[in-house]
Amino acid sequence: MRIDILPTTESIVQAEITGHTAVVFDILRATTTIVTAIAHGCRRVVPVLEAAEAREVAERLAGENIPVLVAGERGGRKIPGFPCGNSPLEYPPEVVGGQTLVLTTSNGTRALNAAAQKARIVLVGSLLNARAVAQEACRLGRNVTMVCAGTQGQFSLEDILGAGMVVLEILEMVEPGWLRLSARQPSALDLTDLAVAALHLAHAYLENPRRAFDHASHGRKLLNMGLAADLDWCASLNTFQVVPVVKNDNGFLSIENG
Ligand code: MLT
Repeated sequence: MRIDILPTTESIVQAEITGHTAVVFDILRATTTIVTAIAHGCRRVVPVLEAAEAREVAERLAGENIPVLVAGERGGRKIPGFPCGNSPLEYPPEVVGGQTLVLTTSNGTRALNAAAQKARIVLVGSLLNARAVAQEACRLGRNVTMVCAGTQGQFSLEDILGAGMVVLEILEMVEPGWLRLSARQPSALDLTDLAVAALHLAHAYLENPRRAFDHASHGRKLLNMGLAADLDWCASLNTFQVVPVVKNDNGFLSIENG
C-alpha cells in the first residue's frame, strides 16, 4: 500500500487520486466536529462552502420535514445568525441525535468538497477516530492519500499530525512492533517522504498530542480565543470507532457513518 500526504487543499489540484482512498483532516476543528457529531448520533453532515448555501440547503431540508441544524464559523467564530458554530463541544447526543447538520467552515468543508471532486472514496479523519480510519483504509486495500485542509493555503502542523497518527496506526497493523523499534525504516508500506515525516511527528507527540496544538499557529489562535476546552477535546486519541464517509446525495455531499 502506498501512502501519500497532500499538505493543503490547494495541492489536490495536481494530484491523481481517483482510485485512492482519500482521508481528509481538519483537526482544528471541522473534521473533529464532524466525527464527534456522527459519533453522537447525527444522521448526516452536509459540508458546504458558503454561508448563503448553508441557509439554502437547510431551508430546503426543513421544507421536507427533515430535522436540520445550520452551523458554521468564519475566523473561528460562529457565523452571525447561525444557531451553531464549529465547536465539537456544541454537539452532544441530546443536541445532534437524529439531526442533519449543514456545516460551512473556512477550510475544512472546502477540503472535503475538493477531495470529493477527485476521489470516489473519501473518509473523514481526526485524532478521535485515527485507529478506526486506519482499519477502514486497510480493509479497503487501496493506495491512501491523506488530504490536510491547512489554513488559508498554508500547511498546518495539527493536520499533518492527524495524518501521521493514521499512518502510525496502519503501520502498527501491517508491521506490529514498529513503535518499539522506531528507528527502523518501515518496510511493509510504501511511504512518500511527507508520510515518513508525518509518521515521525506522530511518534514524537504520541504521549501528548495536545502539546502539538500549543506549537501550532491555529492552536494558539483558538487558545487565545478562550477555546482551550475545544483543544482538549480535539486532542483525544482513538475515542470513537466511527468512520464518516462522504457520499454524493442528490446534488449535494452528505457525510454519514460508513
Ligand atoms: C476551518 O475549517 O478552517 C476550521 O475548522 C476553523 C475552526 O473553526 O477552527
